[in-house]
Parts: sequence; structure tokens; C-alpha cells
Amino acid sequence: MPHLEPDPRDPRGLRADAPLLDAWLTVTEQARAGRLMPMITPGHKLRRDLTGSVVAGDAPLYGALDTIKHADALRADGEARAARLWGADWCRFSVAGSTHGNQALALAAGSPGQEVIITRILHRSLLLGLVLAGLRPVWVRPEMDPASGLPTAVPVPAVRAALAAHPRACAVFLGDPSYVGTIGDLAGHAAAAHEAGVPLVVDAAWAAHLGFHPDLPQHALAAGADAMVTSAHKALPAFTQGALVLARTERLDPARLDRAFEATHTTSPAGSIMASIDAARALLARDGKDLCARLLRGVAAARQRLRQVPGLAVLDGPGVEPTKLVVLLAGTGAHGKDIEADLIAAGMPVEMADRDTVVPIVAIADDEEQLAAFADTLAASVERHRGTPRHPVATAAWTVEPQTVLAPREAFFAANETVAADAAVGRVSAELIAPYPPGIPVLAPGELITSEALNALREVHADGGRIAYAADPSLATLQVIS
Ligand SMILES: Cc1ncc(COP(=O)(O)O)c(C=O)c1O
Repeated sequence: MPHLEPDPRDPRGLRADAPLLDAWLTVTEQARAGRLMPMITPGHKLRRDLTGSVVAGDAPLYGALDTIKHADALRADGEARAARLWGADWCRFSVAGSTHGNQALALAAGSPGQEVIITRILHRSLLLGLVLAGLRPVWVRPEMDPASGLPTAVPVPAVRAALAAHPRACAVFLGDPSYVGTIGDLAGHAAAAHEAGVPLVVDAAWAAHLGFHPDLPQHALAAGADAMVTSAHKALPAFTQGALVLARTERLDPARLDRAFEATHTTSPAGSIMASIDAARALLARDGKDLCARLLRGVAAARQRLRQVPGLAVLDGPGVEPTKLVVLLAGTGAHGKDIEADLIAAGMPVEMADRDTVVPIVAIADDEEQLAAFADTLAASVERHRGTPRHPVATAAWTVEPQTVLAPREAFFAANETVAADAAVGRVSAELIAPYPPGIPVLAPGELITSEALNALREVHADGGRIAYAADPSLATLQVIS
């Protein structure tokens, strides 16, 4: 008799198509049954009697999912399946997020001193990728939507003009969808990059589900990009830190991609993270269309519900990823900080809330009831905090127009000093400072510190926003190039 009960450790029966998951299920079961005495890392030895449940499920790829000598073949099997699913020639699973993926792709795309055409609403991880790789940014900017105060997409003509003005640029780096789910013409960008003979690299951190339902935009590789990074832990039900880096190898060298990837990846990847990426890929391959359909229905209903609240708006339209929920508060007069506090109190923490915008992260794990409950809670909170309607004001992350004086790498390693913030205006920043979320640097190493940038950062700080990566998060002092 076949065993028909679903295995509670693999409730959807994914292990048959997920070799890393299968290995993780096997080794953790062996440990649970007391049939394993590993003379190998990790130091907790797969036991829970010392540090307890916090290490439950932890098992390294090398030495637990398979022997140190053979685990690369297991890893390559899982990664090859992901490459097939996304139509890539090359794929690696990262245990260090899209942060690591972005930096690996920066290290793979060019050589120190070369220029890259790159969006200025980039995540800080990519800016640090420029530092690591020594690449010099040629910034392109998205257009702004005055109604929402949010960025739309980088226009293709802006990329074409930048490529024409910088014919020696080695790549185009874009982020799509943007943090607020706005999407651009990636096929147009790919054509522009390819006509200039360079690869298009896309930070698709939020978009691991795109391309898996006919009502969703296609993913970056399907649109013609040469490489993309995506966080499995953001859009998919994978372990925190899990990410995929996927590439086509016509314009990017696979050996160089591997070297770049390994340069900053741990030598001890967590098997549980790797297995969860594998499991999420198997789930997407088999059930992705249904799960995306449920998410599309849930978000459409939530948007509809929220639109009924007087003054409340949601970001919508052909340039917006249909499963993204971005709530626009300005017309209600409510402050995002108050809404966020109510949502936290209701056990529904959101990822971003500034004065005019609330961004909950919704994913295929959310069902329609949950999204309806969230929309109801948010709507009730808005009623509690209504005020005078106002026009939305774009925050610094979206509007920053930097003057790059030194390349990020030169500035990162230059001698620097700490000065009072007001005295820093007119000097060159030694540090990266980003309101987080969204993690877009308002000041980056090598950029001129303007009073606009400083005031914008101060406004975020005064409004309770998190000022990340600054040596002095109070902004009383800044670090400048000596
Ligand atoms: C656009 C973008 N890229 C990259 C990252 C980094 O992703 P991770 O947290 O997986 O390292 C983020 C994180 O929020 C992001 O918003």
C-alpha cells in the first residue's frame, strides 16, 4: 500500500522535485531519530539541548545535506532546476539575500574604473557593489508620478541617451519592479543595452513570482535581461536570506559569474536556506499559477476595499505590478506613523510607513481572507486618524539628484573626518546614508553633500524614520572626505 498521508514536514509533497529539500528532510530526520553524530560543523551538532529551538532545522549544505565532497553536485542539481524554470543558463542560490546577488553581479559585470549606466533609486547593496567592483556610476533616474509622490520607471530614452553619451559603459543596471511596485519597459531596456553591446542586469529583489501567471508581468529574463537577482525570501515562502541569481551567458561569462558569486558568499551555506529556495522553486513550478491567481484576487479585492475609504487611494494602473499593495494616505490627512502603530498593535506589522505611504508586503503565502482582514484593519485605522487632506510630498529617496564628485570606491577608501552636519554642506560624503526602508541612499560615498540632501534626511529623521548606515544616525555629524 502506498503511503497516502501527506508528510507534515513536506505538506505539499515537493521533495520528489526538490533535491536539496529532499536531502534536508532526510538529514534532519536522521538527527531527530538519534542516528547521527556529526563530527563536523555546526557546533550545535544538530542537538537542541544546549541552545534550544533556535537552531532547529539548521544543517549545513556541506557535510549535512551531502558529504563535503559531493554536496556541490546536489547544489548544482537544485540550481539547474531553477535555471530551467526561469529560462537561464546559469543560476546560483545565495544565503545572503539579494544584497549578495547584487554585489556578485556588480563584480561580474565590469572591471575597476569602468562606467555602468545605473538607476539612482538603487538599493544600497548595489551601491556597495559599485564600491567592491570599482565601477563608476552614470546615473539614470525614474520619472515621478506627481499624484502619488512616488517614482514610476526609468524611461528607455534615458538609458539610450546615457549609453550614447558613455559608449565605454560596460552594463546597464536597473531595479524593476521598484520598491513601490512600479514597472518599466524591460524589453525596451534590453534592446537598448544589447544594441550598445552590453548586458542588462536587473535587481528584481521583490519579483520572484513574476512570470508565473498570465496576468502578471513577465520576469526580467523573459523580457530580455541578461541577469537578475531576486529574493526568494521576499516574494516566495523561503527562509529569510534566501535569494537567486540567474543569468544568460551570451553577454556574461559563466566562470566570471561563479568567481564573482563565490567572492563574497560564505563557505558554509545553511542547508536549510538552500533547501527552502529549492522548495520554493518546486512550489512555484507546480502551483505557482494557482497561488499567484489567489494573490491577484486578494490584492484586487483589498485595493477595491481600500478605494472605498474616502480620500484613500492605492497605487494602480498599467505601470504597477498587480500584486503590489501601496496605500496612499495624503487624501485622508492621516499620518502613516499612526496607521503603522495601529497595525503593529493588531499584529500586522508593515514593511514601510512614512507620512503619505504605507507599504505592506503581500506574497503568495497570503490568502484572500488575510488580505481582506488587513484591508479592514487599515481602513478602520484611517478613520481613527483622519485629518486635513494634503498633497503628497515625494521623500528624499525618490527625488535625490546627486552630484558625484568621486567614484564610490575612491570615496569609500579615502581619508575622512567627522564634522558638524551643517559644516558638511559643500563637502564630499564619505558615508552612505539611507532612510530604511526603502534603503535607497540619499547620500553615497563620493557625492556632494547639499543642503537639500541634508534637510531631506533630517525630515525623515524628525518624522521617526530610520536613518540607516550613518555613523551618526542622529545626523548631528557627518563623515566627509578630508
Ligand atoms: C530593491 C532591493 N534590492 C535588494 C534588496 C536586498 O535584499 P535582501 O534583503 O534579500 O538582501 C532589497 C531589500 O529590501 C531591495 O529592496
